[in-house]
Amino acid sequence: MTRRVLTGITATGTPHLGNYVGAIRPAIKVSSEGDVESFYFLADYHALIKSNDPNQVRQSSKEIAATWLALGLDTDKAVFYRQSDIPEIMELMWVLTCNSAKGLMNRAHAYKAAVQANDAIGSDPDFGVTMGLFSYPILMAADILMFNASHIPVGRDQIQHVEMARDIAQRFNHHYGETFVLPQAVVDDDIDILQGLDGRKMSKSYDNTIPLFDTENKLRKSINKIKTNTLEPGDAKDPENSTIFQIWQAFSSPEKTVEMRNKFSEGIAWGEAKKELFELVNSELSQSRVQYNELMANSDYIEEILLKGAERAREQSATLLAKVRKSVGIASIS
Ligand code: TRP
Repeated sequence: MTRRVLTGITATGTPHLGNYVGAIRPAIKVSSEGDVESFYFLADYHALIKSNDPNQVRQSSKEIAATWLALGLDTDKAVFYRQSDIPEIMELMWVLTCNSAKGLMNRAHAYKAAVQANDAIGSDPDFGVTMGLFSYPILMAADILMFNASHIPVGRDQIQHVEMARDIAQRFNHHYGETFVLPQAVVDDDIDILQGLDGRKMSKSYDNTIPLFDTENKLRKSINKIKTNTLEPGDAKDPENSTIFQIWQAFSSPEKTVEMRNKFSEGIAWGEAKKELFELVNSELSQSRVQYNELMANSDYIEEILLKGAERAREQSATLLAKVRKSVGIASIS
């Protein structure tokens, strides 16, 4: 049986090593498997929830597209598109909005976190909360249900949203008849969640990331900034608590990981460990970096690829939307 895998990448920020190891690398691998149809897209309408800087949204869309292409995503096989090129998604979102319980949305983590933060400082609970943030899970449901996707690879923080999409689909199917495939979140425990420079999860919101395609020099500098402790060369070091070791593991073979583990217990100097880590990461990325820079200098080519992807995606979305419109009574009266 073919699995239809779909995932979106919010177009805010520059891709970093954590995105690569946790999402991009595994997604590209899955898309090359035989029994898989993959739909990967730039979630630029999602970006508007977090950013009101038009240049940032555009630049980030471009960087993300260039990143996936540079890393070898086969866009003849995977359907790779930009959310805003599929107008059917917006239209479906409204229909779904009318079929989503407000109470369900009240429980969404992102909205609840914003309300709690306001409560904590005694502000109005909805201070700074836009309807975009509140309705975010419905837009995500439209993304997913539009393409009848069955498997949704996401990080843990997104599981709830996929479950909401499932709830919304179920409710719609129950009322209007079988229309949507019920999606399930796929969280792969074998995939590493990288730590950032300060040892917390690598994330743009913590400002602790190592950008994926910085110049070689900047990559070296970033790696040198990884926080370590005061143990001297010759002191045995604990790999389990080390960001350096953790990134090493995500980039190297099991054999080379064993070697590095031994070096830690033999007391490798932090400076030396960082140097070896740089060599390793750089060797995996250097070829793609060249491609990335070429792509970034060729917006027309990226645009062409995205528009081709959108054309393929719309073959599906137009058909499903026509069915949905008919089901709910948005139809010709003659
Ligand atoms: N909200 C997701 C995130 O922030 C991105 C996203 C948008 C997505 N639409 C999606 C993920 C549909 C999976 C399926 O990571």
